Amino acid sequence: MKGGMRNAAVAVLGRPAPVLPDAGVVLSALPMPVVVLDADNRFTFVNHAAEHFLGLSAGQLRQLGLKDLLPADHPAFLLVAQVRQGEVTIADHDMSFESPRLNKRGIAVQGTPLPEEPGSVLLVLADASAARALDRQLTYRSAARSVSGMAAILAHEVKNPLSGIRGAAQLLEGSVSDADRELTVLIRDEADRIRALVDRMEMFGAKPIERSAVNIHRVMEHVRRLAENGFGAGIRFTEIYDPSLPPVHGNRDQLVQVVLNLVKNAAEAISLGGVESGEITLITGYEHGVRVAVPGCEKRMHLPLVVAVRDNGPGIPDDIRSNLFDPFVTCKASGSGLGLALVAKIVSDHGGLIEVDSRPGRTEFRLHLPMLSDDATDPA
Ligand SMILES: Nc1ncnc2c1ncn2[C@@H]1O[C@H](COP(=O)(O)OP(=O)(O)OP(=O)(O)O)[C@@H](O)[C@H]1O
Ligand SMILES: [Mg+2]
Repeated sequence: MKGGMRNAAVAVLGRPAPVLPDAGVVLSALPMPVVVLDADNRFTFVNHAAEHFLGLSAGQLRQLGLKDLLPADHPAFLLVAQVRQGEVTIADHDMSFESPRLNKRGIAVQGTPLPEEPGSVLLVLADASAARALDRQLTYRSAARSVSGMAAILAHEVKNPLSGIRGAAQLLEGSVSDADRELTVLIRDEADRIRALVDRMEMFGAKPIERSAVNIHRVMEHVRRLAENGFGAGIRFTEIYDPSLPPVHGNRDQLVQVVLNLVKNAAEAISLGGVESGEITLITGYEHGVRVAVPGCEKRMHLPLVVAVRDNGPGIPDDIRSNLFDPFVTCKASGSGLGLALVAKIVSDHGGLIEVDSRPGRTEFRLHLPMLSDDATDPA
């Protein structure tokens, strides 16, 4: 590994690298941010991922030092100093970069000295929060799979006898006394309720999805209109849209279902929490550099489209946070706990990711979705 590192350093300095001639190209294409700092902590090299990460171009960064981006007491300075002093590699697995420019948490930082350039330090950054989101996503997937198996069984074993029960109750309705009719109506209504539940579970079925270019803003507008005229009446809706956003590669109806479930939860959280001036914010954006490797999919997926639903409700109760996306997890008297399980299933069918950030007064569900051109990365 050490040899490879030395070659990379040679290419960075502009001299030909004999063993690995395209080391500079490799370094540029590396999906994780890589920067080199000189003895004065000024940037002498940044790769493309680092430009995205820091939100500045290589040209701009070459004029700057670490102190222009981070406060003087930031732990990154200590890490760099320790690397220089001890000439050893030092890693910190959970650093926050918060400044007027940057807002990243959960970043793994590894610093290594560059022997050819005394005083220079190579920093490799990794967004561990994306990896953590992926971790969670994979468990949601298995939860969704167990529901889809169960739905298939229920459809067979419950729906058929249920229609028999319902039909029998309906027949009885004509011949019983008024007092007993109440009971037959009860049987019919309860049978309908069970049927609706099974129908909802059947949406977890493992059918392959049909995809096309979907304008996510139309999807969000559709849901907003539904909400404003129904369950979300009285709540203020705000939009923060990136109008230049390219289409999502997905299934329109399923994406409507996803946004609807999230907005419905947000509206319910606001009303259950008794929030006076409820507000739901619908957000879209483009995020560079979110690439994840997913088991069963050879390529790294590029998930640049971000769709988020934020509310100012009381936040997600602590006791359900760790299995929020599991089926039948609910805090509502009449909830089935299938809303978020279905969201997780649809998003994972789309090859996307979900992240949740929740505290009292601010809960945000963020979806990361693939773009149309990422056809080949469909894991389905
Ligand atoms: N925006 C939110 N704010 C606070 N809590 C939330 C939010 N979204 C979801 N939750 C919590 O997560 C639980 C699970 O949500 P989910 O949508 O899966 O089921 P549900 O809303 O209870 O029932 P269903 O969606 O089937 O009607 C909710 O009961 C609620 O406690
Ligand atoms: Mg719900």
